[in-house]
Amino acid sequence: MCKKKYFSNQSLKDLNTFAIDVTAKKVIFVKTIVSLINISKICKLSNIPYIILGEGSNILFLENYAGIVIINRIRGIKIIEKKNTWLLHVFSGEKWHNLVKLTLNLGIFGLENLALIPGCIGSAAIQNIGAYGLEFKDICQYVDVLCLKNNITTRINKKFCKFSYRNSIFKNQYNHEHAVIAVGIKLSKKWRPIIFSTLKKYIKQKNITPYSMFNIVCKIRKKKIPDPKKTGNAGSFFKNPIITKEKAQKLLKLYHVPNYPEINGLIKISAGWLIEHYKFKNLQVGDAGIHKKQKLVLINKKNATPQEIIKLAKIIHICILKKFNVFLEPEIDFIGSIGKVKSSDIFKLKNN
Ligand code: FAD
Ligand code: EPU
Repeated sequence: MCKKKYFSNQSLKDLNTFAIDVTAKKVIFVKTIVSLINISKICKLSNIPYIILGEGSNILFLENYAGIVIINRIRGIKIIEKKNTWLLHVFSGEKWHNLVKLTLNLGIFGLENLALIPGCIGSAAIQNIGAYGLEFKDICQYVDVLCLKNNITTRINKKFCKFSYRNSIFKNQYNHEHAVIAVGIKLSKKWRPIIFSTLKKYIKQKNITPYSMFNIVCKIRKKKIPDPKKTGNAGSFFKNPIITKEKAQKLLKLYHVPNYPEINGLIKISAGWLIEHYKFKNLQVGDAGIHKKQKLVLINKKNATPQEIIKLAKIIHICILKKFNVFLEPEIDFIGSIGKVKSSDIFKLKNN
């Protein structure tokens, strides 16, 4: 292999929505499963680290990446009509929001609540994306995952994907040397609006349609969440904590934190509210700041370094723990020079 060709540094600034100015040894866009297999094989043989990305909208690079960043652009959508449902087989390099728009234009409904979420289909499954009362798991049928050790693709039925809030088997058991290749989605022909509590005040008309729902969700999101093309961010930096009923009751006696019941009697509370009510006064570390209209979103105001973003996140984490006794866990993935880094290793704090 010609070393020069493979080791010329390439900027990743446009390939991560936080717009962090780091480099990789090489960036390769893949359009086919065969290329993905071949590149991963070369990397393994040459002992070069590699990482697969979609749109880089749920990650923070901590430093220059000492390997190859593979950008997944494996595309294709197949739609099968059944008596009562639509079945979609979508390859993992398709953009999520494009699928939402396409299905809506074809009169196939059910994805509207997840409109305008950046990223690719593969990552949507890995992350179990969610918004306004709908999660990927609710419409998922199966996920096809390729093992890059033996090049065998396995279809995992949704029952075995271990989907939970912003989590799945693909973030754990299949996190290493696996690539999500395609997903199966099932949408009912009978459309029922999902009017999540935070949507109610925006829905005035009685006869809500999938189109008006799509427009409402897009409008709210554009108002609250910064456009990564203008301001670097990765959506919510932290997850909304899920706490026990007892702990929630104590907290709710003192503060009116928005809360949502979860399964097993647990309660999810709004991390954005906690950060807003800590009342940080213009907290900023270098160019890393908190978005004014959505405090869960940390932003790169211009040329923030990963260290500035981490320092800001640590300050928020510690302050929220001290004031509310609530542990904030990052939602995004952290990528070091040779691969993913556990958030617990960065924050060095344990939930107790
Ligand atoms: P990336 O950031 O590229 O990758 C994420 C992780 O998945 C990485 O660890 C990567 O290595 C791995 N990965 C990616 N593709 C593959 C693959 N094919 N095989 C194996 N591993 C892979 N999320 C929500 O849930 N709800 C929201 O409402 C929401 N709003 C957002 C708003 C903004 C403005 C932004 C910037 C982000 C938001 N997010 C939201 C987070 C993000 O959009 C989602 O997590 C999205 O699914 C990430 O997709 P991606 O392709 O950019 O993933
Ligand atoms: N709130 C505040 N201040 C804030 C933010 C929120 O008081 O700065 C309170 C408000 O009462 C608001 C409520 O929290 O009504 C809920 O806020 P919002 O609808 O913005 O939702 P969220 O809980 O902050 C979650 C997801 C988002 C998703 C929205 C919409 C997480 C970590 N975040 O945010 O997902 O778009 O719900 O349902 O679960 C992401 O994952 O990156 C993401 C953006």
